Amino acid sequence: MLRHTRADFPEGFLFGTATSAYQIEGHEHGGAGRTQWDDFAATPGNVVGAENGARACDHFNKWPQDLDLISDAGLDVYRFSLSWARVMPEGIGPANPEGLDFYDRLVDGMLERGLKPAATLYHWELPSPLLDKGGWRNRDIAKWFADYTYTVMSTLGDRIWSAAPINEPWCVGWLSHFMGHHAPGLRDIRATARAMHHVCLAHGEAIGAMRSLGMDNLGAVFNFEYAQPADDTPDAALAAQRYDGIYNRWFRSGIFKGEYPEDVLEGLGLHMPANWQDDFATITAPLDWCGLNYYTRKLISPAPNEPWPHYTEGAGDLLKTQVGWEIYPEGLFHFLTDTASNYTGDLPLYVTENGMAWPDTPGVPDEARIAYLDAHLGAVLHAIEAGVPVKGYYIWSLMDNYEWAHGYGPRFGLVHVDYDSLQRTPKASYEALKAALRKNG
Ligand code: FCB
Repeated sequence: MLRHTRADFPEGFLFGTATSAYQIEGHEHGGAGRTQWDDFAATPGNVVGAENGARACDHFNKWPQDLDLISDAGLDVYRFSLSWARVMPEGIGPANPEGLDFYDRLVDGMLERGLKPAATLYHWELPSPLLDKGGWRNRDIAKWFADYTYTVMSTLGDRIWSAAPINEPWCVGWLSHFMGHHAPGLRDIRATARAMHHVCLAHGEAIGAMRSLGMDNLGAVFNFEYAQPADDTPDAALAAQRYDGIYNRWFRSGIFKGEYPEDVLEGLGLHMPANWQDDFATITAPLDWCGLNYYTRKLISPAPNEPWPHYTEGAGDLLKTQVGWEIYPEGLFHFLTDTASNYTGDLPLYVTENGMAWPDTPGVPDEARIAYLDAHLGAVLHAIEAGVPVKGYYIWSLMDNYEWAHGYGPRFGLVHVDYDSLQRTPKASYEALKAALRKNG
């Protein structure tokens, strides 16, 4: 049982669930082009078991039953993503009709079931031919991405409830180009600075493309990690502040204020592309909402003998999920209030991802997930009471899926997936959510 129910939230508050294309669809189907994740996974040491998204949950064929699961739970919104390489196998140039048709039927399927389609245009599976041209390091990516956005939304835009260009720009920029944990697996500060700027520019260009088609309810989806100083020394506080700047402030600041934080430019400034300051008119295109993805916190220690950003990250001793992420719902309250107070004011906020991985087995109730959801719903309610305009909460994820560099081990779903038979089995958290969402509470 969830303690919090729909009745606790303001009238019209929306509940949803989120997935992404490469993590569930099965990329081998339907004439999709090769992506950077296929290449990254095929290189030893990058992904546990070298697993990739070729088959995944076969959502490409099983989508009607997956949409039924969403609507049967009583959810209002389905946040899904479109694969660039499925729509345009080369990244630029002709569209793949089978790919566009798939999303066309999927969106109609949502509308038939009374679900609001919340689209994300990029959830990380860059078409490989664009990586050959430099990927996020190449400024031209902003135009390529706007063209793809225009192509997709010319077909679907009239039926999309809300859209965001890019999922989690920090992962696109920092995690993939500085830390090397995600495709394309670079560890290069110059590539990072360029990617962290071009991802903002591509966001702005895509917003422009969608506005030109008359679309509204457009937003951006950021991810956040609470940066906790590892001890109470001033050096630890400074290190945590730097971590917070890179992770939590750079993108909101660029997109909502038209500037990048000084404490991050101290390290990245030297490596930025020429005339980056001139791009803010595009980057700050007005938005209708802001999305927050939130999972955990990190403990940050100073590392004075290492190059900038001079910190190391670690975990504390709070309860951890299957992927070792500490459970810290207070961080969600912090980022909701911080976003409204310092960046977005009255703009509607949505929690666009929140959830946990747990080694679930069918038949064993996933009480840990129920408790996680309850605690984070409590943080959302707390923020609403404090006057923050939070309008919805989406759970990651509908079903177990391909968890990037972790492969298929971590189970984030409300629904269990057997990767041999591909059978879907709702977990106890799914049933608890369904009960909590009944209109009469
Ligand atoms: C987020 C990603 C999503 C999933 C969850 C666990 O950072 O957007 O694809 O991997 O984490």
